Amino acid sequence: MTVTTRGTAPSYLTQGRVDFPERFVWGAATASYQIEGAAKEDGRGRSIWDTFSDTPGKVFNGDNGEVACDHYHRYADDVRLMRDLGLRAYRFSVAWPRIQADGSGAPNGLGLDFYDRLVDELLDADITPYVTLYHWDLPQALEDGGGWTARDTAYRFADYAVAVHARLGDRVRSWTTLNEPWVSAFLGYGNGVHAPGRRDPGDALRAAHHLLLGHGLSAQALRSAGAEELMLVINSSLVATPAQVHDPAAAVSEADAAAVERVHSLLNRQFLDPALRGEYPAEVLATVERHAGLEHIQDGDLKTINQPIDLVGINYYNPCVVEAAPGEPADAAWPGSEDVRFATADAPKTAMGWPIVPTGLSRLLLRLSQDYPEVGLFITENGAAFDDVLTEGRVHDEDRISYLDGHLRAVHAAVEGGADVRGYLAWSLLDNFEWAEGYRRRFGLVYVDYPTQTRTPKDSALWYRDVIGRNGLAG
Ligand code: FCB
Repeated sequence: MTVTTRGTAPSYLTQGRVDFPERFVWGAATASYQIEGAAKEDGRGRSIWDTFSDTPGKVFNGDNGEVACDHYHRYADDVRLMRDLGLRAYRFSVAWPRIQADGSGAPNGLGLDFYDRLVDELLDADITPYVTLYHWDLPQALEDGGGWTARDTAYRFADYAVAVHARLGDRVRSWTTLNEPWVSAFLGYGNGVHAPGRRDPGDALRAAHHLLLGHGLSAQALRSAGAEELMLVINSSLVATPAQVHDPAAAVSEADAAAVERVHSLLNRQFLDPALRGEYPAEVLATVERHAGLEHIQDGDLKTINQPIDLVGINYYNPCVVEAAPGEPADAAWPGSEDVRFATADAPKTAMGWPIVPTGLSRLLLRLSQDYPEVGLFITENGAAFDDVLTEGRVHDEDRISYLDGHLRAVHAAVEGGADVRGYLAWSLLDNFEWAEGYRRRFGLVYVDYPTQTRTPKDSALWYRDVIGRNGLAG
């Protein structure tokens, strides 16, 4: 099913020509497990996503990342494609099990060689690399020792980060520690929809803290090794009631307002307050204590987590819609969300069923820039899955163009409103392995025919090339 969003953008999102600030960064993003394939080559160890995908019933259709987009072998062609699309920046992640098969010890030279070649290829094409160190493919050996519920994993992560920086740091200036720690912790250890598939609220909250500790330790180590720009990427949403989604001024009950703030704390503040302020919001800490105790939060941890960073990366897809519902048990992915019902917005949906609300992005960016003025913002992911059809060498993905156009207008509105947003990276360069959804969800600007590995830029890719070329949107 396709949906069209044109005309649904509220009036404050300008319809005409829009120019972005000079030096605004344009690009696209991917992640290692989702595109690389070559799962058993050159000394790569197993990751939790290999194990999870091999477990019947976990991933749609039994799909896995063994071949994916075969990017490990086709990276040079893929970089050429990026250059042809005019991308100026490319965010990719490093597969930890390629660098340390078991998650510790001497780095594997062959694994580092791959990223070395990729970085050189990007620089030759005049594309700035943005390296993410952790986009969910934890070495299985570390999971066997407790994964992110074990404190030691945070220290292992910092060692790994240093090893990657030692090889690429002479050419890569921008380093992201973690991608979406909320998802790692609460889908990985809370509701079990993602690898490693554990389901325990205490484990999820312990994992969240150790991920933050890993962020702090690695940020500290990277900075002392000379890393120029440090970023933490979160999955972030505007949290709002069904009425507030379309009308920020909508009247809401006290209970609804409290539900909104509680979920905002669990989703956004749980990570941003420790990283940027060195403290957990009181409400979050109470939830942690209730489910996990506080012993795993050791003296000095919050100081370590609170390293100076340059940017917060925002991955935004849709708003998070909630309302007060007395007696409702907590959702497994949201320990602390008792008495809250997760609802959906009255808006067109993508193929993921995610409501399309571009103004949610403007409002989110404005709120974050007011609450955390000390840090710059960067859109590190934004995009949509639709049921694309390849006909005669073309994919006419008008819906994706509308989605991107609406969200770019939303970013622009936030910039006009004073938010310090430095760049935008579309998710994703290529159709790829969409985690528990397997290959059935296509987020790419470029269509991938998996049996032949043929790449076909969709109409949205050609449209995006023009956006980049004019540093803005046409009327
Ligand atoms: C984000 C992930 C990314 C991709 C998009 C659709 O949560 O970071 O890997 O799956 O969602």
